[in-house]
Amino acid sequence: MSVTYERFALAVSLLPRLSHARSVILCTRMGTKVVPPRVTQASPPADTTTRMICDLSIPDRFDNVVETYIAYRTRYAPELLDWLLAETRTGTAAHVLDLGCGPGFIANALGPRVARVTGVDPSMSMIAAARAEAPKNVTYHEGSSENLSIVKGPIDLVTMGRSFHWMDRPATLENLNKRVAEHGALAILHDKPIKAPENLWWWTAQEVGKAHARPDPTSLHRMSDAWEPHETVLHASAFSELRRISVLSRHTWTFDSLLGHFLSRSGSTPEVIGADGIAAFEGALKEALLPFVEGPWETLNDHVALIARRPARP
Ligand SMILES: C[S@@+](CC[C@H](N)C(=O)[O-])C[C@H]1O[C@@H](n2cnc3c(N)ncnc32)[C@H](O)[C@@H]1O
Repeated sequence: MSVTYERFALAVSLLPRLSHARSVILCTRMGTKVVPPRVTQASPPADTTTRMICDLSIPDRFDNVVETYIAYRTRYAPELLDWLLAETRTGTAAHVLDLGCGPGFIANALGPRVARVTGVDPSMSMIAAARAEAPKNVTYHEGSSENLSIVKGPIDLVTMGRSFHWMDRPATLENLNKRVAEHGALAILHDKPIKAPENLWWWTAQEVGKAHARPDPTSLHRMSDAWEPHETVLHASAFSELRRISVLSRHTWTFDSLLGHFLSRSGSTPEVIGADGIAAFEGALKEALLPFVEGPWETLNDHVALIARRPARP
């Protein structure tokens, strides 16, 4: 871990000198020696809560935000996807399952790189948007982590982009253990601006966003100290061999795209916060950003794939 942290700090300190480079690549390994396995009882109750809430509301949480999601959410760095395929030895003959595919950012990008991709999501509007952009070898199904019988054939790689936290994680991992090929892998992807002075304006905007959002109980639970990180949930599963790869890349934001990004989040969709909530957020955001230089602004984002495999047999 310390090696990685030093590399990270070094990479960040070098960034001003790398103005010509769009991204810097970082890698962390988390073998069993580095992260001791924590077989804990805390995880099942946590995910029982998630399961109860998901059972009630999986299908419509993202249904009304498809357009905003597509317009304002960042795409994963292509270098991260390439590295993920190389790292997991996912070749051109592979079948990838993109679970919680949303509008298909990952599935459609991976299509040209593998034999076939199956995208699964409970939201029909997300699936419709994903299909509209799909290469021929990418197929989409309405479904969820709770029933994977819809997915045909063995799976070499499962990607879950910003979606694993919505699932009953232990149950999902058990399901995937039955379906993923012996050599196969899981990858949990997300991206986030790093904590750095140059991103201070973003984190200031996030505080304003938090104050104006109305997160549901699942999200509140996730923000609490009781939330088990993905790493420990994976460590207690069949996919306990973990490795993290990461790519830094810059993103440009305007005031409108910041606003759109906020409205694409489940706790602050227009439906959840209403017109008054949007107006209040807009006003507070303008005020909070006054001390910073005028937009457009940039963020330096960490695009991360947490890769999980079964341990190699001795
Ligand atoms: C934030 S979006 C992520 C979309 C896309 N993967 C990305 O990386 O941008 C989360 C997606 O997870 C889906 N989702 C929620 N619960 C799920 C479950 N139990 N199984 C599969 N997908 C689920 C939602 O419908 C939504 O489309």
